[in-house]
Amino acid sequence: MLKVSGLNVRYKRSKKWILNDISFELNEGDLVIFAGPSGCGKTTLARALIGLIPHYYESEIDGIIDIFGANPIEEGPISLAGLVGFVSQDPESYITALTVEEELAFPLENLKVNTITIKERINKVLELLKIQDLRRKPTSELSAGQLQKVSIASALSLDPKVLILDEPFARLDRTSARNLCNILEKLKSSKKIIIIFEHRLDDIISIADRIYVMEKGQIIAEGHPKKIVKYLIDIDIPELVEVFWELYQEGKIPELPLSVNEAIEVLRVAK
Ligand SMILES: Nc1ncnc2c1ncn2[C@@H]1O[C@H](COP(=O)(O)OP(=O)(O)OP(=O)(O)O)[C@@H](O)[C@H]1O
Ligand SMILES: [Mg+2]
Repeated sequence: MLKVSGLNVRYKRSKKWILNDISFELNEGDLVIFAGPSGCGKTTLARALIGLIPHYYESEIDGIIDIFGANPIEEGPISLAGLVGFVSQDPESYITALTVEEELAFPLENLKVNTITIKERINKVLELLKIQDLRRKPTSELSAGQLQKVSIASALSLDPKVLILDEPFARLDRTSARNLCNILEKLKSSKKIIIIFEHRLDDIISIADRIYVMEKGQIIAEGHPKKIVKYLIDIDIPELVEVFWELYQEGKIPELPLSVNEAIEVLRVAK
């Protein structure tokens, strides 16, 4: 489905390899997080997955990336249009003079989707992200959080099989972050592959199937969030999980909760 094997990346300007021997395989319905400290290579891996490396960044790359048969290393981002939706860590750099509605329509028009379907898709994603009120606003007048939501809506408007989000929670308030988690859970159950690059794990950790922990361009641990919490201690482990991790280590609770609801359940049983 989505396979990465032996991936190495180096930017032309830097001597050192930024990604070293990255390999993983994802199937339909997988929701995974790549977590790791600033500078570990998350955005670089995202850029490679969507073909920006090597096609837009001067760089050297070797290894295999296969996304439902597409080969972004050879064919570049064009080969992924409609297949992969991408939300950048830096949506400001994609701002245009268009209104939100025009911005959302643009990639659909490029793919020659008919006008009625375009209207339907736009209505659907605006509703999903709860941003109907932004429809006629120019993107240049949006707040950082609003822009983030528009950028997620834009990635979803093409109904891609794979959704890649680079630090999607960074600019969202708590309510919007929870709404995004609900949306991602729904997308997961509709068999999409969802890849999130993030070090703020608060809301997302309890719905992830797997976390890949990155350090200095390598995957140093992977597995279900409950199994690899110890590797997350130095990253951005949610405070709730950190507290219960201590109790779990001491054998005082039978299971490690990852969300408030799970914590309440664990405490009930422990009593
Ligand atoms: N265009 C570029 N040219 C040269 N080096 C780069 C470029 N972009 C990133 N790097 C370097 O690659 C390394 C990994 O950066 P990357 O942006 O992938 O990290 P990250 O894990 O996404 O960090 P953050 O959490 O801060 O977003 C860093 O050392 C960075 O300086
Ligand atoms: Mg980054």
